[in-house]
Amino acid sequence: MTRQFLVAFFLAFVLQNGTCNGIKWLALFKTPSVLALNQTQHCKQLEGLVVSQVQLCRSNLELMQTIIQAAREVIKTCRKTFSDMRWNCSSIELAPNYLLDLERGTRESAFVYALSAAAISHTIARACTTGDLPGCSCGPIPDAPMKMKKSGSQANKLMHLHNSEVGRQALKASLEMKCKCHGVSGSCSIKTCWRGLQELRDIALDLKNKYLSATKVVHRPMGTRKHLVPKDLDIRPVKETELVYLQSSPDFCMKNEKVGSHGTQDRQCNKTSNGSDSCDLMCCGRGYNPYMDKVVERCHCKYHWCCYVTCKKCERTVERYVCKLETSRFSDRRKAF
Ligand SMILES: *[C@@H]1O[C@H](CO)[C@@H](O)[C@H](O)[C@H]1NC(C)=O
Ligand SMILES: *[C@@H]1O[C@H](CO)[C@@H](O)[C@H](O)[C@H]1NC(C)=O
Ligand SMILES: *[C@@H]1O[C@H](CO)[C@@H](O)[C@H](O)[C@H]1NC(C)=O
Ligand SMILES: *[C@@H]1O[C@H](CO)[C@@H](O)[C@H](O)[C@H]1NC(C)=O
Repeated sequence: MTRQFLVAFFLAFVLQNGTCNGIKWLALFKTPSVLALNQTQHCKQLEGLVVSQVQLCRSNLELMQTIIQAAREVIKTCRKTFSDMRWNCSSIELAPNYLLDLERGTRESAFVYALSAAAISHTIARACTTGDLPGCSCGPIPDAPMKMKKSGSQANKLMHLHNSEVGRQALKASLEMKCKCHGVSGSCSIKTCWRGLQELRDIALDLKNKYLSATKVVHRPMGTRKHLVPKDLDIRPVKETELVYLQSSPDFCMKNEKVGSHGTQDRQCNKTSNGSDSCDLMCCGRGYNPYMDKVVERCHCKYHWCCYVTCKKCERTVERYVCKLETSRFSDRRKAF
């Protein structure tokens, strides 16, 4: 099994002949881990796959665990990366039936496409180096350039392809040089270096910064074809490193299913932070309610000769805060005066 084959397989799987719903496969994260996936009829039991993907599954059963693993990584990493934001990526778990926040050409879907693409390459690379995928143990990181018919493509499709490419480039850029010294008493007379894979979490943080500075684009004729070009600036091509989106998102302050917003009522906020998880930003100025929470910690730890540590468990109460649903009447009235 060559790397080229693997990359082609994963691409075929994710792209599904160019339909633009390239993140429905993330529903694979729900696959029960007890499902052995060693018989072709198991493919029908997987959620979120279209007919062409079920066929790919049947003919490449041994690769499915890797794809399922990638889906799990995307969900986990997205939720973690956005846990301090109003939009906290919880809706990704609705896969394959997304709400509008991920169904349309939004900033949020730009991030999820980029992360998914990075995760696929990341998972292949990792599975190759650990020997989980036979026949691809060493060599350069597999990259998967997208190919598609340019004519007749929709703006959304262009957007998703662009953002997926940004994700893969972010993975490539994150390959860091690691070195190790050998030699007499650490003299470093011999040094070996290699390029190592970073954690997906770090790549996701890089992509989150790109999400925060993403560029709104429009589908506009440029030369003989239509391209995505930045909406607010003079005509310039979009950069290969920037995430792009077509539709603005709501501020996610209030619940509004019509626009895919869950709102931030009852979300926990941080009174001392001045970042996006601060009570002011998280609660959109509506205010917050304190509540007491118990935390259990290890305490009174003692070292015993030789060699172990024993600790006691201590309980401590801490004050936490959750966002109010609405501005209270009282503060409304106060504002009015
Ligand atoms: C599939 O895996 C299950 C559980 O590991 C095992 O019991 C079963 O025999 C396997 N079937 C085949 C066809 O290999
Ligand atoms: C994420 O946001 C949703 C909707 O506001 C909320 O129900 C959920 O508890 C949040 N998750 C976390 C981990 O804060
Ligand atoms: C709140 O934010 C502050 C400052 O960023 C941080 O030190 C603290 O750990 C945070 N508290 C919680 C409960 O996350
Ligand atoms: C608050 O924000 C400022 C500027 O954005 C930053 O320099 C400062 O370190 C932040 N303070 C805390 C406690 O996070």
